[in-house]
Amino acid sequence: MRTQVAIIGGGPSGLLLSQLLNKAGIQTVVLERQSREHVLSRIRAGVLESGTVALLKQAGAGDRMDREGQPHHGCYLSSDQQMIRVDFQEACGQTVMVYGQTEVTRDLYEAQDALGATHIHGVENVVLHDLKTDSPYVTWDKDGASHRLECEFIAGCDGFHGVSRRSIPDDVRREYEKVYPFGWLGVLSETPPVREELIYANHPRGFALASMRNPMLSRYYIQVPLTDKVEDWSDDAFWAELKARLPADVAADLVTGPSIEKSIAPLRSFVSEPLRWGALFLCGDAAHIVPPTGAKGLNLAASDVHYLSQAFLAYYGTNDASGLDGYSQQALARIWKAMRFSWSVTTMMHRFPEHSDYDQQMQRVELDLLSADPTARALFAQNYTGVPL
Ligand code: FAD
Ligand code: PHB
Repeated sequence: MRTQVAIIGGGPSGLLLSQLLNKAGIQTVVLERQSREHVLSRIRAGVLESGTVALLKQAGAGDRMDREGQPHHGCYLSSDQQMIRVDFQEACGQTVMVYGQTEVTRDLYEAQDALGATHIHGVENVVLHDLKTDSPYVTWDKDGASHRLECEFIAGCDGFHGVSRRSIPDDVRREYEKVYPFGWLGVLSETPPVREELIYANHPRGFALASMRNPMLSRYYIQVPLTDKVEDWSDDAFWAELKARLPADVAADLVTGPSIEKSIAPLRSFVSEPLRWGALFLCGDAAHIVPPTGAKGLNLAASDVHYLSQAFLAYYGTNDASGLDGYSQQALARIWKAMRFSWSVTTMMHRFPEHSDYDQQMQRVELDLLSADPTARALFAQNYTGVPL
């Protein structure tokens, strides 16, 4: 087989890139390890920046999001019993869209089907070859047979555990990592959200988040030690702990019900540089991970795809390679801003085992500043709704 851009990974980054390139007449083949059903069953992000919303529309995958997504004009940060509202519109004139990653992925698959884009699912043992030449290729196994795809470029969109990043030699790659000493236990339930806007809760018992997907689907998280297992948490225990961490008047309104999904995600900050090596370009979680506190992971994947798709369009349109040459530097500048924001909100909102009274005072002062100072709220809102592309 031959194509112009081979895309490893059929998650949000791979699909969005494939969609934007196909729309511009650039050929792609997406290679995905899992089945489409498996990719669609993953419950992950819920908050889209306005830049991500615009990109999905540009890709022709925004109609259902326009109808069913919920624009949010603010969010709450709670500090024990105090609720601080950040009004995004007032603070920076922007909004976000609450629309689940599962729905984004479904819309992208449908848009790809409509364009007749090629996806191969169930690929195993993917290997990238000859990345420093003009004729790179990808091999994989499927159904007991070996396959080969010749291409001009490869986009590594295969997430944190993928093969693409590891195809860059160790002496070229520089990795930055911070692993947090806790995870998030998440529950999805068919119950009305406790408030119309998200609540990020700082509490002596640990962090909690009240989020949602739609008026009858709620998503809640609580900070848990890394040693906890999903089986340790009955639904009743989860609801009791969530209530204990939300302000009392909010907890009194919480409607509980059976969980329809429950999982634990560890928290990590990670960046691998550079994003380009020869014919290979990394996008999304393949190159970087943020703790979910800032709601940035999927949005950063989308901004990488924005820069890379523009670069491919210039290259194939007018033979201008400057975008491809500048991709790593351009995308990394935005990635590091999102790293800083995600780290700072994570640090402000969680209980760390090593934190002293001093550290807790620092959290309190930061939250007080957000409560009292419009400039602090503007900075938070600009970062939360997304710094410009
Ligand atoms: P992935 O979604 O990981 O997709 C990579 C794909 O590559 C997968 O389908 C995988 O099967 C495939 N793959 C892997 N290895 C191979 C291989 N060797 N060969 C072929 N295919 C392969 N982000 C936000 O912006 N807002 C939020 O509110 C938010 N909340 C989150 C909450 C949780 C609990 C979690 C876990 C994440 C959250 N995120 C959020 C982050 C967001 O989900 C990720 O950043 C996003 O999924 C990244 O997309 P991706 O396509 O780069 O990677
Ligand atoms: C979610 O709804 O899953 C969600 C929302 C905001 C975050 C993280 C996760 O910061």
